[in-house]
Amino acid sequence: MVQAAIDHAVSRFATARRVTVLTGAGVSAASGVPTFRGDAGLWRQFRPEELATAAAFARDPALVWEWYDWRRTLIAACPPNRAHHVLADWSTRRPGVTLITQNVDGLHERAGTARLTCLHGSIWTLRCWRACGTPDWTNYDVPLSPCPPRCPSCGGLARPGVVWFGETLDPADLTLATEACVCDVFMVVGTSAVVHPAAGLADIARAHGAYLIEINPETTPVSDAVDVSIRGAAEIVLEAFDRWPLERPTVA
Ligand SMILES: NC(=O)c1ccc[n+]([C@@H]2O[C@H](COP(=O)([O-])OP(=O)(O)OC[C@H]3O[C@@H](n4cnc5c(N)ncnc54)[C@H](O)[C@@H]3O)[C@@H](O)[C@H]2O)c1
Ligand SMILES: [Zn+2]
Repeated sequence: MVQAAIDHAVSRFATARRVTVLTGAGVSAASGVPTFRGDAGLWRQFRPEELATAAAFARDPALVWEWYDWRRTLIAACPPNRAHHVLADWSTRRPGVTLITQNVDGLHERAGTARLTCLHGSIWTLRCWRACGTPDWTNYDVPLSPCPPRCPSCGGLARPGVVWFGETLDPADLTLATEACVCDVFMVVGTSAVVHPAAGLADIARAHGAYLIEINPETTPVSDAVDVSIRGAAEIVLEAFDRWPLERPTVA
């Protein structure tokens, strides 16, 4: 990627009226939250795909809750990083900036982000597994006690309020995310864009004429389809976007 293309991307971003940012696990990597891919994403001998499903929960809720309790405890000790803070700052200063995240860690919320849609729910939300009708509730206890936790209304098992593999997204969240694709600049940050609808949202934004920017240290399936793909860590590149024109994001 040539420097001129990156400079062009930053100026498009700086002058855009509506900017939508889609984030993934990479945005939280610098906070110490492991992504799912690679050895760091493994817990004991399990892959996330084997634990984050309704079938796994039905089979062994204690095991699945042990994994979530471990992740909640790990995440509770992870502060938001520069990427979360820069994005939160844009969302509060620029009314046209909207965020969509696939993360469940709550770090965008802790940084004070406005206009945030959490497509995959939150690890801090609990839900009645029996669906007895009680509304989802928030629980920040680490470690959980008891674990597995129970529904305060019917006393049955609680489940994590996240979207598991094989489950559909909340239609209201999907509508918000789709509407946010009508924008001038669409940024895809820290996501491998293999889990839908991440890649799909970028396509919708492009169909609406948005200028697409990707920020990721690695090549992803959307890299070839964006206008500019900046190879770098979110916490560094977003900071440079924020300081432009005093500083410029540079070619990796
Ligand atoms: N923090 C969280 O809430 C969390 C953690 C793990 C997984 N998940 C969720 O599970 C699903 C798939 O997980 P996944 O781990 O494959 O996430 P992902 O698909 O979002 O992949 C992580 C991406 O982040 C990139 N990355 C790594 N460090 C980065 C950095 N410093 N700056 C920018 N990009 C960086 C990697 O190259 C990779 O493309 C998604 O829904 C994801 O959001 C959430
Ligand atoms: Zn219940």
